[in-house]
Parts: sequence; C-alpha cells; structure tokens
Amino acid sequence: MKQVLNFGLIGCGLMGREFASAAARWLHLDSGSSSGGLGVEPRIVAVCSRTTASMAWFRQNIPDVRLATTDYRELLADPEIDAVYCAVPHDLHEQIYIDTIEAGKHLLGEKPFGIDLPANEAILNAIAAHPEVFVRCASEFPFYPGAYRVGEWAREGRFGTIIDVEAGFWHSSDLNPQKPINWKRRIETNGEYGCMGDLGLHVVHMPFRFGWQPNNVRALLSKIVTERPDGQGGMAPCETWDNALLACQSGTDMEAFPMLLSTKRIAPGHGNTWFIKVTGTELSAAFSTQNPKQLSYLPYAPGDEQAWRTLDLPHTSAYPTITGSIFEFGFSDALLQMWAAFCDELVNGETRQPFHCATPEETHLSHRLFTAALESQRTGQTVSVERSRP
Ligand SMILES: NC(=O)c1ccc[n+]([C@@H]2O[C@H](COP(=O)([O-])OP(=O)(O)OC[C@H]3O[C@@H](n4cnc5c(N)ncnc54)[C@H](O)[C@@H]3O)[C@@H](O)[C@H]2O)c1
Repeated sequence: MKQVLNFGLIGCGLMGREFASAAARWLHLDSGSSSGGLGVEPRIVAVCSRTTASMAWFRQNIPDVRLATTDYRELLADPEIDAVYCAVPHDLHEQIYIDTIEAGKHLLGEKPFGIDLPANEAILNAIAAHPEVFVRCASEFPFYPGAYRVGEWAREGRFGTIIDVEAGFWHSSDLNPQKPINWKRRIETNGEYGCMGDLGLHVVHMPFRFGWQPNNVRALLSKIVTERPDGQGGMAPCETWDNALLACQSGTDMEAFPMLLSTKRIAPGHGNTWFIKVTGTELSAAFSTQNPKQLSYLPYAPGDEQAWRTLDLPHTSAYPTITGSIFEFGFSDALLQMWAAFCDELVNGETRQPFHCATPEETHLSHRLFTAALESQRTGQTVSVERSRP
C-alpha cells in the first residue's frame, strides 16, 4: 500500500504549476520495479495564492483540491495537510516558511530560501526548534542523467586531484529591453543578490554536496539593462544584478583549486543553460542542459592520449520510470525526480538512491557566499566565506 502525502501548495505561479504537473504524473515513476517502488505519492488537497484568479487552473485540473484560499494561514491550519510546497517571491520566504514549520508541516521551499542572510538564518532557527519537521530546498538540475553521473563520479572519488570546477546557470530573455519589469528585477521582492538569489542555488548545489566549498570569493557583478517597461506606459528602474561571475578558491590549503561560478540573466542565446564541468588529474567531465542527453568525459592515466569522449546517455534516472532507455530526458523529468527524492526522504528517513534535495545548511552556505560576493563587488576585494555556520 502506498502512503499518501497530503500537500498544500502556496504560490500558484510558474513553479506551482510544475509541481501540480509532477504530482499528476506520479504514475510515471515505475512503482512496479523490483525495489517495490517508492511507497509514497503526493496528493495536492489545498492551494493558496495571492489572487483567486491564479488558483482557477489548479481547481480545474486537480480533482483532489478541496481548499483554495488567498490566506496561507487558513491552509496551514488544515490538520489533514502533511506537507507544503511553497513557491512565492523571495520577500515572502521568511514569514511563510517559518509559519509552515511552526504549524508542524513538512516543507519543500524554493530558493534562495530567504531573501537575504538574516532571513535565511531566521528560517534555519525555526527548523532547529522543530526537529520533527522535514525541510528541503528545491533544486532539480542534478537529477539530469548527465549531472547525476558526474555526481556518482564525485562520490566515488574518480576525478583524482581536482584541477578546477566551473558551474553556471544562464538565461537570455532579459537581453530584450522591452521585456516588462517583474518582481525578480526589484530589490524589494527579489533581494539585493539579484541573479545570484534567483539562479545561484542551482549552481552551487552539486559543488557544495561534494565538499567543494568556497573559502573566498572575488565577485564581478553587472547591471546591463537599467530600466524596463512598467506595464503602464512608463519605465521602471531595473535594480537587481543581471549577471554574476564568482571566482572562488575552494579546497584545503594543501589542495586548493579554483571554482568559477556564474549566474547570468543575460547570456545571449542561452535558454535555460545549467552546466557543470569538473577537471581532475584522473578524470574530467562536462554536462550542460544545452545538450541534455550528452555527457562528455576524459579519463586519464599517465601517458594516455587525452581525448574527450561524448556519450549519448540512455534515459537512466535516480528513480526508475516507465520511460524506455532510448528516449530523452527533460526538465519536467528532472522535477519529477526531485519530487521523488523529497517524498522518499520524508517517508523513508533517507533516500533509496544517494542524491537528496538541497538541505537548509546548503542554502545557508549559499547565502554566506552571495553575501560575501556583494561585499567583494562593493570593495573590489577578495572576501572570505565562513566555512561553517557560526
Ligand atoms: N526550481 C526552479 O527551477 C525554479 C524556477 C523558477 C522559480 N523558482 C522559485 O520559485 C519561487 C516562485 O517563483 P515563480 O517563478 O513560480 O514565481 P511566480 O511569480 O510565477 O509565482 C509566484 C506566486 O506566488 C503567489 N503569491 C504572491 N504572494 C502570495 C501570498 N502572500 N500568499 C500566497 N501566494 C502568493 C503569486 O500569486 C504567484 O502565483 C521563487 O522562490 C523562485 O526563486 C524556482
């Protein structure tokens, strides 16, 4: 018998719809596999958004929804709700995440997990005060088969001595100066981190998981489009950083290596390009969602010819699915895998495969890095990043 997890969804925008879709195709996960399947499935029973109109699609498409409210506290008061997915603008993370945790609901929150470092720390304090509540942060790209394979190699120590790590997440629709302003371009709602808060956790999730933590950062942040149409015939200032290049030193004193992390809203030509490249003395590997089924790698032993190989990956995933291995993997598949990892860890205590969703501690390290990056931009100096939470 599968355990049903009753979910409340707070924030019925872009990501709220993605979760609704993932939950609706839970049957895609291969519950008939030899492992006996996940043993758990999410059911969205309540939704909450700022406006009634934004909930209409959810009410129409999810038969289990029995509560639709503009007041998230009403949703949190529902005793039948086990867990909450919260996908709202960044200025609301602190209050809604803390209220969710204090209501005793498990939480998958969205990045950056608080608009700034103090907000993030307030959320982590609430988690510490409620150890019975399970909390993770969304980050789906490491579940692409190519990224997942890079993760397997990192866990197995296959890279040898790390030479360097590059990771990034690049968008380009903001190249169009006529794109109207939205909450992600305002400091009040997105936060001062700008593109780092919006895209950064996706970039650091895998490096942090494998212990490639930044000791320090020299940041180069840029604002490229300074104003945008405000939707009412005028122009509004575009306050947040468009692009960020973070040059970090990582590793121990004896084995330090450079790590270059980039988040860009204006990278011409890049639709939704997430990538990671690791070079090492025994193995190098590169994966990008630009070529989502291809993984490039270069194994090396002394004297070997140095030739990159490119592999068309089969549709293998952290959790087995009904999809035949000859087919391609995509964004909604990565989201489904992330959701499987969240539900698996929540119900079973640990994931059945080795990669779990981003932890609150990992979000805290990302906030320490982005806060240091802002200081580096202000001072023009290299700024230390605290290695652990003080
Ligand atoms: N994991 C990913 O790949 C990914 C991608 C995009 C965005 N995000 C994150 O998801 C979150 C939401 O982003 P989005 O792109 O879905 O935004 P969005 O603007 O599309 O949706 C935000 C939703 O929040 C609702 N909302 C606003 N105030 C509210 C309130 N007080 N109570 C309840 N609902 C309220 C709005 O009505 C809207 O439906 C952000 O934290 C963002 O960084 C994650």
